[in-house]
Amino acid sequence: MTRGPLLRPEPAGRAFTELLTPPDWAAVFGRAGPLELELGSGAGGFALAYAALHPEVNYVAIEWRKKYAREVEHQARTRGRSNLRVVEADARAVVPRLFAPASLAAIHFQFPDPWWKRSHQKRQLLSLEFATLLFTLLAPGGLFDLRTDVEDRGRAMLDTLEAVGLTNPLGRGAFHPSDPEEPVSSRERRYLASGEPVYRARLRKSPLVHTPAAGGPSVSPA
Ligand SMILES: C[S@@+](CC[C@H](N)C(=O)[O-])C[C@H]1O[C@@H](n2cnc3c(N)ncnc32)[C@H](O)[C@@H]1O
Repeated sequence: MTRGPLLRPEPAGRAFTELLTPPDWAAVFGRAGPLELELGSGAGGFALAYAALHPEVNYVAIEWRKKYAREVEHQARTRGRSNLRVVEADARAVVPRLFAPASLAAIHFQFPDPWWKRSHQKRQLLSLEFATLLFTLLAPGGLFDLRTDVEDRGRAMLDTLEAVGLTNPLGRGAFHPSDPEEPVSSRERRYLASGEPVYRARLRKSPLVHTPAAGGPSVSPA
């Protein structure tokens, strides 16, 4: 049985994990562009396909499993995806340091681990506190792209995201139909093949919300 990719020796995005303040992402990518973040990118099917489909986007994928983070970073370099960077880290630790308020055009959060055991529930990424931070980091009009295979977790995450101020254009608690134009994630491909349901939501931050800038970009890693 295969257990994922071999561990590549070079850490992914080490220059970013040590930063205390957000880098100048336009300088990192070598050009300005909408900055998008993926939390828990896993085997990277979505990140690689999305970066190819949207070459104008500057895409940052965070994944704490070294094997996956390093393999996706390697694939991005091999395929010439200069608009994709992978950061090998705990998203809870690095997101507050790497992104300035109102800097993100979109956040992708797909098939988060459900952490069934009660003792593991504190590992859930989308706490009210973290969701509040993500709301602050989204630019006015920014998109939150949520996907899950666990319906009740999906509803709970929708409640949390709506509670912190995101708007669901389809109505509170409503899931979004599948969009054939959107790339599927590695995990999603598995569910689509087996016919298991996938619950999607596309929430927006109001274009009218004003988020005071705090600090702004200051450091640019080599
Ligand atoms: C079920 S997988 C889904 C991966 C991918 N989004 C997909 O749809 O194929 C969840 C991923 O989130 C990652 N993850 C969970 N908590 C994380 C955290 N705090 N920081 C970074 N990655 C995390 C896991 O390692 C795993 O790769």
